[in-house]
Amino acid sequence: MSTPDTLPEQVASAEQKIWDLPTRVFHWMLVLCFAGAWLTAESERTQLLHLTLGYCAGALVLWRVVWGVAGSRYALFSDFVRSPAAALRYLRGYLPRSTLAAPRRYLGHNPAGGWAVLGLLALIAAAVASGWWAYQSGAPDMAGEMHEVLSHALLILVALHVIAVIATGYIHGENLVRAMWAGRKRALPEQGIRSSQVGMGLLLFAAVTWLGWALYAGRLPGLTS
Ligand code: HEM
Ligand code: HEM
Repeated sequence: MSTPDTLPEQVASAEQKIWDLPTRVFHWMLVLCFAGAWLTAESERTQLLHLTLGYCAGALVLWRVVWGVAGSRYALFSDFVRSPAAALRYLRGYLPRSTLAAPRRYLGHNPAGGWAVLGLLALIAAAVASGWWAYQSGAPDMAGEMHEVLSHALLILVALHVIAVIATGYIHGENLVRAMWAGRKRALPEQGIRSSQVGMGLLLFAAVTWLGWALYAGRLPGLTS
């Protein structure tokens, strides 16, 4: 039997809104900041851009924590943070000789994905904090090394995240990347969210763009070129 946020694929043929706009703006801005922070990490010449993109990633994570308690249905922590045992049970469904049924389809994050989301948010916050510490104290030292280790751990988790997204989508015959871009998935009408929260999405985009510009242009204290 299907529970309110899971359903067998064959039940629904129409698409409904699942990811609100703020969650999608958050995700794709985070991808840009993360990739940009990596591309600008090594050179002195691009250091200001590195710090700016890192701080913007930190701001996005702070915002996501708020949206995790105030956002729409599938963005809420209460929708996707389940027990570690539930995550392990879900993952066991992927084992070739599993006696359990194939992994169930979730409209929001699955139980293992929920922990990956928390891990990604925590590691980004830790990378930003250690980067700030390294910048204040002058690298190379312990802070610089910690920042390097955390950034590499984050890179590994991101790689696992992308592999998991592709594998899960393949198993259920759906394109999860497209869903994170367009916000829609096959679902029953009552399972969709009512509003995409467009205003909040545009506000988030404008606020993070402004923060990046203000940091880069030296309009805020803390960074000097
Ligand atoms: C091009 C590479 C990436 C692709 C294709 C991708 C794709 C996705 C997809 C499809 C989801 C939704 C998963 C689901 O249906 O449960 C998702 C969620 C998520 N991804 Fe990625 N991702 C990428 C890179 C990243 C990076 C670099 C980060 C962080 C540094 C990241 C962090 C997250 C987070 C935190 C979520 C949860 C979204 C939320 O609930 O707010 N992703 N990603
Ligand atoms: C998502 C966020 C971030 C990522 C993924 C990231 C990643 C990296 C990486 C890969 C390096 C090169 C490490 C090495 O090989 O030595 C680096 C260096 C550095 N980052 Fe970040 N960073 C982020 C945010 C920040 C922030 C917010 C700051 C400061 C406010 C910062 C300050 C620095 C400094 C000072 C260095 C040079 C450290 C050294 O030479 O040992 N980073 N970062």
